[in-house]
Amino acid sequence: MSDDAQLDLARKRISDVRDQIARLDNSALDLVFREARSHNWFTDKPVTDEQLHEIYDLVKYGSTSSNTQPMRLIFVRTPEAKERLKPALMPANVEKTMIAPVTAIIGYDPTFWEDFALNYPIRPEMGDRFKGNEAVAEKFAFQMGTLQGAYLMLAARAVGLDTGGMGGFDPAKVDAEFFAGTPIKSNFLCNIGYGDLEGIKGPRLHRYDFDKVCSII
Ligand SMILES: Cc1cc2nc3c(=O)[nH]c(=O)nc-3n(C[C@H](O)[C@H](O)[C@H](O)COP(=O)(O)O)c2cc1C
Repeated sequence: MSDDAQLDLARKRISDVRDQIARLDNSALDLVFREARSHNWFTDKPVTDEQLHEIYDLVKYGSTSSNTQPMRLIFVRTPEAKERLKPALMPANVEKTMIAPVTAIIGYDPTFWEDFALNYPIRPEMGDRFKGNEAVAEKFAFQMGTLQGAYLMLAARAVGLDTGGMGGFDPAKVDAEFFAGTPIKSNFLCNIGYGDLEGIKGPRLHRYDFDKVCSII
């Protein structure tokens, strides 16, 4: 296909979607944002491979700078793999993680730039700034990987699952156990499943109002 035809097609895909839908309705916004809670307890309803694929196939469309996509994911599901994760968890996060059908280890790859030309062929030379500059690559990978982790939580909620993010773990232990021999590092964990309401111990906590934390200039 010629470049012009590809451009026409790309624009048509956008306009076709806009013709179909202008915005999410209130129920969808409630599901993904307003009524979505962090879950501490999960029912035994399993999360299938198909669901994990469906979630990733949404997450991958979330934007990252220069389309770099540095997030790397391990979905921990088997009891054996959960046991490997257990020693790294803060005590308060152990039980809920053992019960959750899936725990995602959201990691990031500081050597993501090796794929720069694949992911950003329009300006491949922009990847050169990361070569031999570990601090820059690390910061960039962590920033974009964190964004992708947030996309993961929203995608899981969008397909009807519940999530519980966790920063309470020892990253060095997770890295040694799950990412040994690779440059990948862990960022945060996220339990995924169907929330058991027994784990909800109170109402939604305070959120800042617009005027407190936003300005329009
Ligand atoms: C990245 C991330 C890390 C978190 N770490 C933990 C954790 O280690 N343990 C825990 O019980 N909750 C953890 N939480 C849950 C937050 O405390 C919770 O989202 C917050 O109190 C707001 O509650 P809500 O999502 O129900 O409104 C984490 C949430 C996120 C997004």
